Amino acid sequence: MSPIAGGSSAPSAAVLCGLAGWVPSRVVTNEHLARRLDTDDTWIRTRTGIHRRHVVEPGQATSDLAVEAGRRALASSGTDTVDAVVVATATPDHTCPATAPAVAARLGLPGAAAFDVGAVCTGFVYGLACAAGLIAAGVAERVLLIGADTYSTIVDPLDRANAIIFGDGAGAVVLRAGHPDEPGAVGHFDLGSDGAHEDLIMVAAGGSRQRSRPAEPTHEDRHFAMRGKEVYRHAVTRMAESARATLSRAGRRIDDVDHFVPHQANLRILHSVADDLGLPRERCATHVESVGNTGAASIPLALADAAARGTVRPGDRLLLTAFGGGLTWGSCLLTWPVLHRQERTTP
Ligand code: UT7
Repeated sequence: MSPIAGGSSAPSAAVLCGLAGWVPSRVVTNEHLARRLDTDDTWIRTRTGIHRRHVVEPGQATSDLAVEAGRRALASSGTDTVDAVVVATATPDHTCPATAPAVAARLGLPGAAAFDVGAVCTGFVYGLACAAGLIAAGVAERVLLIGADTYSTIVDPLDRANAIIFGDGAGAVVLRAGHPDEPGAVGHFDLGSDGAHEDLIMVAAGGSRQRSRPAEPTHEDRHFAMRGKEVYRHAVTRMAESARATLSRAGRRIDDVDHFVPHQANLRILHSVADDLGLPRERCATHVESVGNTGAASIPLALADAAARGTVRPGDRLLLTAFGGGLTWGSCLLTWPVLHRQERTTP
């Protein structure tokens, strides 16, 4: 199908048919961080559940991880062509242009529609809604959606509150036009935002607000800033509300959910949301302990991790829920598909 030919096909559901994750090879453990920051392994494990994270080498950028994950997701789907490439990221290679066109070019997908989604850690769920919309509108038959972030490039390495949480990574899915009742079908959705709290998670410098001011940005302005405690409270409330809204739209109950796959922000947040929903913690997918908070990559990386461990089976019902800067939040349901091939997630 030619890219953005537009609107002629009958509306259909987006069906997940390819999945892969990719993290860089360099591992930073809690002990590594404790050597240069006023922190320790016990504090980090107790407060976040994180044991280690992967970070890029100097010179590596978000698109490098996105290309690796995208290539493997295409192989996993058994196809090498898509009509659109969507990259969800808060750490694009450049302020302008978007990262997706360069990723599409490097994947050998010339001419594909390509754009970024900016919804911070909710980006992957927003991206799923965009991909489902492109498919439902008949604009694309196949979409490659990649969630990719390199927070190590924007977090101040001396900021102990944030340096301990974030890791770098990418996760990708291929979605094709299909039927709402078949395994792999995506939907219903709930998406929301509250920009009145934009200051809770922010990189102040680099955009038009800062550039239109005469003053030079400070060291702090150039780095990622998060008011962790306040964000924590919003995250628990909004994720639980969004999960409930999605189930209600779909006419489902929490007992119908086989696996809850939340944005991997902090193990305590995931468990609080699961408890609030009345969902046994063992049905909550977690891999935050080995990769940290990987932003827009966290849900597809959690999906790839669950698939690799064999904890999800075709036909299982999954509830994905995310929360991030903006503030933004979102959820969607997914029926687990039969995948053509399972790809490795580390180099
Ligand atoms: O992905 C997008 C959404 N992001 C999130 O959902 C993240 C949400 N927030 C969090 O995960 C948590 O708030 C953090 C992990 C960031 C912090 O945990 P916390 O339990 O909220 O700790 P806190 O910020 O209340 O800090 C408690 C104490 C403070 O010391 P005082 O003031 O009590 O003396 C901090 O200075 O812990 C101190 N502290 C640390 N101590 C050792 C903060 N960071 C560290 C550290 N090591 N790395």
